[in-house]
Amino acid sequence: MAAADPAFVLTPELGGRIAEAAALLVGARSVVALTGAGLSVESGIPPFRGPGGLWTKYGEPPLDGYQRFLADPAAAWRERLHPTEPWARGLMETLRRARPHAGHRALAGLEALGVLEATITQNVDDLHRQAGTRKLLEIHGNHALLRCAECHQRFEPKEIEIERLPPHCPQCGGIVKGDTVQFGEPIPPDVLRDCYAAVESCNCMLVVGTSATVYPAAEFPLEVRRRGGSIVEVNPHESELTPMATLSLRGPAGALLENLLDRVRPLMTSRR
Ligand code: APR
Repeated sequence: MAAADPAFVLTPELGGRIAEAAALLVGARSVVALTGAGLSVESGIPPFRGPGGLWTKYGEPPLDGYQRFLADPAAAWRERLHPTEPWARGLMETLRRARPHAGHRALAGLEALGVLEATITQNVDDLHRQAGTRKLLEIHGNHALLRCAECHQRFEPKEIEIERLPPHCPQCGGIVKGDTVQFGEPIPPDVLRDCYAAVESCNCMLVVGTSATVYPAAEFPLEVRRRGGSIVEVNPHESELTPMATLSLRGPAGALLENLLDRVRPLMTSRR
């Protein structure tokens, strides 16, 4: 049953909308989830925009982060290992301590029930993986992983020697960087290809905790809608996507997704 969240009141009207959303998901041919920073707010990680957002507080980082990395990768690595920016140090610590909540687990539950074909996340916080989601596409990378800037092979930090900076890829010799996609960096071709493939077959997208302002991720729900599919939005506030949404569930992701899973489960059982 749903954990008690003070910000969440299950009114009969909201209960009805959650039941409608459950029917949409179960009735769809292919469902894909798209998640953003709002999903991890209840795990203690601030969003980027809006009240309490990182960029709201500290301003957006320079849009040429990747070009700066390529210009001096050794300096970028020293900054990565010992961040000088207070917000970057704070975020690193917050990401290290964060744990998945009921919302992340509910999405893993929808995957386990066979409802979700894939989960595309803009979050780099590794919480979907920790919650048990397996068909996961991390379009902006994962802060806990490293990646070769040439061949895009990904590595656990322990697989890469960082005596001499910058470290190099054991496969192709290319320069290794954090897996997180920096501003100005193209999305790695493998994950982008898999995202487009998932969106192509999708006719119902569950969009959780995103302002839907950053592309290419923000394009995905629009594409589903353009092809006659449905959009279920989960967000306490209106977003760029609200006018396009088939159904908007207003409230915190944790309790809403857990309630959604509770409604979907019996529908899936009766379908069998
Ligand atoms: N549950 C669900 N949604 C929430 C919650 C919550 N508890 N709290 C806030 N939100 C919503 C906000 O209303 C907002 O619409 O989450 C959204 C967060 O939006 P952004 O901060 O813009 O985050 P996101 O959409 O993921 O940003 C996209 O921008 O800076 C880049 O690379 C970064 O991946 C990020 C991308």
